Amino acid sequence: MKLPRHVAIIMDGNGRWALKRGLPRVAGHYRGAQTAEKVVELASRWGIEYLTLYAFSTENWRRPKEEVEALFSLLEEYLKSKRRKLEELNVRVRFIGRRDRLPKSLVELMKQIEQESKDRTGLKLYLAVDYGARDEILRAVRKLLESPPELLTEESFRSYLDLNDAPDPDLLIRTGGEQRLSNFLLWYLAYTELYFTETLWPDFNEEEFKRALEEFASRERRFGGI
Ligand code: IPE
Ligand code: IPE
Ligand code: MG
Repeated sequence: MKLPRHVAIIMDGNGRWALKRGLPRVAGHYRGAQTAEKVVELASRWGIEYLTLYAFSTENWRRPKEEVEALFSLLEEYLKSKRRKLEELNVRVRFIGRRDRLPKSLVELMKQIEQESKDRTGLKLYLAVDYGARDEILRAVRKLLESPPELLTEESFRSYLDLNDAPDPDLLIRTGGEQRLSNFLLWYLAYTELYFTETLWPDFNEEEFKRALEEFASRERRFGGI
């Protein structure tokens, strides 16, 4: 089967998963973190080269303070407890997005994890935290305003973006039933195949992941050609 080199996922539907069960939204995020772990494992096992997961958007700050705080502490706790496993799986981890608004302890942990995993040769995992594509593009433009406009090309512009060392995503999966991008990876998604499923993120599993990959394999990509 033709596998995507780079899969990006909008992990949506945690809140609804919890509400359906009469649980607090945070319980959905907790289960969602377990799904993320499973998906990282599967992607490594299947030999997908790059995986980018949307964990927190620049717009998610609009949520109640308690939920935002719970999300960051869950992420921190989770990263700590999965360090060994990520090492065993030989996963290189990087974070994309802004760091200036995140809790200091989380930023410190992110740096450590990037540092300790930098030479690993397995799956390249990108976690998008306080990430928004418009914010990313503006940060890039601010950096390149110094350089002469005639030197600007798609390639040089790309070098200022957060995912400058990965190929464009081949496949974008969004769970939770919404059919929108919610400010994710706008620059890179120009020719990405889009796959939407009603399944809520905590219920996403191996079978669902395979279905998305099969659907991808069946698509004909033309990139504007014939
Ligand atoms: C996705 O689940 C996780 C984050 C955005 C952090 P949601 O929390 O958006 O779940 P729904 O969409 O409300 O069900
Ligand atoms: C997108 O989900 C962001 C993440 C999954 C981190 P949202 O739940 O924030 O998206 P909208 O608000 O429904 O567009
Ligand atoms: Mg949502």
